[in-house]
Amino acid sequence: MAINAPIKREFSALASSMKPSAIRLLLKVANQPDIISFGGGLPNPESFPIDDIRRIFDEQISRNGKKMLQYGATEGLDTLNVALSKMLRDREGIKSEPSDIIQTTGSQEALYIIGKIMANPGEYVITEAPTYVGTISALRGSGIRMIGVEMDRYGMKMDALRETLKKYPNPKFIYVIPNFQNPTGITMSIERRKELIEIANERGIMIVEDNPYGALRFSGPQIPNLRSMDGNVVYLGTFSKVLSPGLRLGYVVSPPDIRDKINIAKQALDLASSTVSEYIAEGYITGGYMDKQIPKIIELYKQKRDLMIECFQNYFPKDVEYTRPNGGMFLWVTRKGADTDKMFDEAVKQKVLYVVGSAFYPDEDNHESMRLNFTYSSNENIVEGVKRLGKLFEITAK
Ligand SMILES: Cc1ncc(COP(=O)(O)O)c(C=O)c1O
Repeated sequence: MAINAPIKREFSALASSMKPSAIRLLLKVANQPDIISFGGGLPNPESFPIDDIRRIFDEQISRNGKKMLQYGATEGLDTLNVALSKMLRDREGIKSEPSDIIQTTGSQEALYIIGKIMANPGEYVITEAPTYVGTISALRGSGIRMIGVEMDRYGMKMDALRETLKKYPNPKFIYVIPNFQNPTGITMSIERRKELIEIANERGIMIVEDNPYGALRFSGPQIPNLRSMDGNVVYLGTFSKVLSPGLRLGYVVSPPDIRDKINIAKQALDLASSTVSEYIAEGYITGGYMDKQIPKIIELYKQKRDLMIECFQNYFPKDVEYTRPNGGMFLWVTRKGADTDKMFDEAVKQKVLYVVGSAFYPDEDNHESMRLNFTYSSNENIVEGVKRLGKLFEITAK
């Protein structure tokens, strides 16, 4: 019997078509010394409430250790679903029963599952253009097509959506990130939200609302979430940006038939989310830690947003445009006629990184923009990094 004989490996058609994402490639370069990276979408480690987590962990393991270290129910820890239902009502005005909620391994898992249970390969969904790159990967990985709808500073354009629906009348759902969108930082106006719900209801189309950043509002009035305006909306939340992405814990609020299908699909993927994470998240909400921590995260990020925008004003050529988000983690920088993919090699030489805007377009080529994360870098690096970007724009003048 030959051992370790060479094997001719043939991957599936899907695996053969997979390419590493622009962001994963970028993270490799990001580890080089002296590089300033505005690329990754990372929370600032200073925002992690390490002492609180230690205290919550000690309390939970003493009280619930045997359950905390055991497999849990697929829908997640019941007391966390109770806490989430109350938190969603108090913070977001969302009315939901604990039984409407299912916990997921980050909202990334929820996006993947929702694609799988709602659409067959070759069918299509509508997204904002640009949209979250992880959604593009999750849906594309299931053979689902995405049709992007143009945005302006008030979010997805509703006239453009109506036009798109003439050509593509049967999307499996419309996916939006109404608050401080990744990648643009744009927030959908209340008028657009109402119109979106109207359009979706007229045509019987499901809306998926992804809201990882909603709690991180630094300025401007809170705008009601789609789910608080319409009980048919499927709502995705996560602890990644208000506690820690390392817990890998998200949740979905949805009508019962959808929740049941998510439950079955999740059993095949990972049986259940991490019970350790669920107990920590439960203690974080019910112990009042979360209400104390969110204002601290907001304070930290707000001053970083302000600093980055001030640096744009000081160091960018005047024809460079940028969004001014009221919260979240990202800024979207655009220069008409620029090609940020082509500029990227020079950016690496200048030792500053961004994510190329083209990565966020599901179905078109658009190279004029870049996404910058303002939450991760130190203040010093924000100043120095924007100076380097300013130089990059000058060197690569159109
Ligand atoms: C819009 C959006 N949705 C979903 C996710 C996934 O978050 P997680 O899986 O960490 O909950 C992210 C992460 O950056 C995001 O920006």
